[in-house]
Amino acid sequence: MKNYKQIFQGTAFTSKSPKEIEILKNHLFCINTDGIIKNIVAPHDAEYQTILDAYQGKPNFHSLEEGQYFLPGFVDLHVHAPQWAQSGTALDIPLYDWLHTYTFPLESKFSDLDFAKEVYDDVVSTLLANGTTTALYFATVHKEASILLAEICASKGQRGLVGKVVMDDPEGNPEIYRDANTETALADTEEFIIAVQELAKTTKQGVYPVVTPRFIPSCTDEGLKGLGELAAKYDTYVQSHCSESDWAHGYVQDRFNKNDAFALNDFGLLRDKSVMAHCNFLDNDDVELFAETGTAIAHCPVSNAYFANSVIPVKEFHSKGVEIGLGSDISGGFSPSLFDNIRQAVISSRMLEDGVNPSIPAENRGVPDSRITVNEAFYLATAGGGESLSLPIGRIEENYVWDVQVIDTKLPTARLPIFNENEDLHDVFQKMMYLVRPEHIREVWVQGEKVHTR
Ligand code: GUN
Ligand code: FE
Repeated sequence: MKNYKQIFQGTAFTSKSPKEIEILKNHLFCINTDGIIKNIVAPHDAEYQTILDAYQGKPNFHSLEEGQYFLPGFVDLHVHAPQWAQSGTALDIPLYDWLHTYTFPLESKFSDLDFAKEVYDDVVSTLLANGTTTALYFATVHKEASILLAEICASKGQRGLVGKVVMDDPEGNPEIYRDANTETALADTEEFIIAVQELAKTTKQGVYPVVTPRFIPSCTDEGLKGLGELAAKYDTYVQSHCSESDWAHGYVQDRFNKNDAFALNDFGLLRDKSVMAHCNFLDNDDVELFAETGTAIAHCPVSNAYFANSVIPVKEFHSKGVEIGLGSDISGGFSPSLFDNIRQAVISSRMLEDGVNPSIPAENRGVPDSRITVNEAFYLATAGGGESLSLPIGRIEENYVWDVQVIDTKLPTARLPIFNENEDLHDVFQKMMYLVRPEHIREVWVQGEKVHTR
């Protein structure tokens, strides 16, 4: 028998396919020193007893209590870390006005590193407490504060992918909040990439720099071109907003006479390591281009209800081979929880299928075959996010990393409504998806290290 750093015993849920959950009942999960799952052992396997005999009772043997379950840690593909400071507010006006009235003034304050530290410490801890083990962050235009966010992820043990935001177009951005000019925007981005790649060497779970043009309306052609070149030079991730709302989609049509997807691709910004937020208004050619280039979609269902003027046909895009994960889009989305976004993804898809205007006859009201199940939404929050980032995360499977959340369904102050000792585990899973709150998340592990307890 091999030597393992840690053994976990309990029942785990993971995606077998986008539509199917695999239940690993009372299995042993054997983790090596790098935090990778090296062996998963079922109770009927011959090795099971041997491993129990060797490890049970030792400090590195962790057994779940009754009513507790392992889920993969969530992968949040779209978070604006600075906007945590206004989460839950400012959702009363459309996207363009929201950006200029509330969001750009708030983000401009992150030139102050003390303020940045206060907010970034809190948002990273909050996401971990909500089961998010990997997060793809927009910071702000400020290089130093963006590096600070990556450092905070590194020290709290979260797998953070962080972008210094580029907004270099004086036409599209207010004077109080933009890069000084295109040259400094690109130079700052390059220094940021190098600093975060250095920082990554000191972490177990990894932190990654992300080339981050905010969206086309914020950037000059030279800026976008330079960012595409930096992404290729340093082989980095890329993130932006793509075809989000009627206004943003129409702006790009007016400027380039093409959709965001093709415009971004012309600048070298659609790559296997690209994740584009929202993407509500992709047409068939855009979807094909995403699939060809390996560009993934960060589906942000809560935020979309406020700013996207539409429900994205996520099922259709997924069926065409595009990688899709979930994003909270704090603070366009008010919630730091991917459980909330799983719920909204299901709800929005059902409203798209049925349609919402009761004065239209039922047969014309909606878009047939649009609904997704809770299993599919869970897939997006976990395995889909991992695939979008091409990292071995989001599944409880051999050679994936031990990124998990421990859910307690029997929390004395907030028991889930499970009244049958032998309740079907598929039902237990659905109850967790719909009813878990942060207090049920008792432990969170990233790359084999415990990063949160409550
Ligand atoms: N488009 C450009 N910036 C933003 C942002 O901060 N949030 C959302 N939802 N859309 C954007
Ligand atoms: Fe966003």
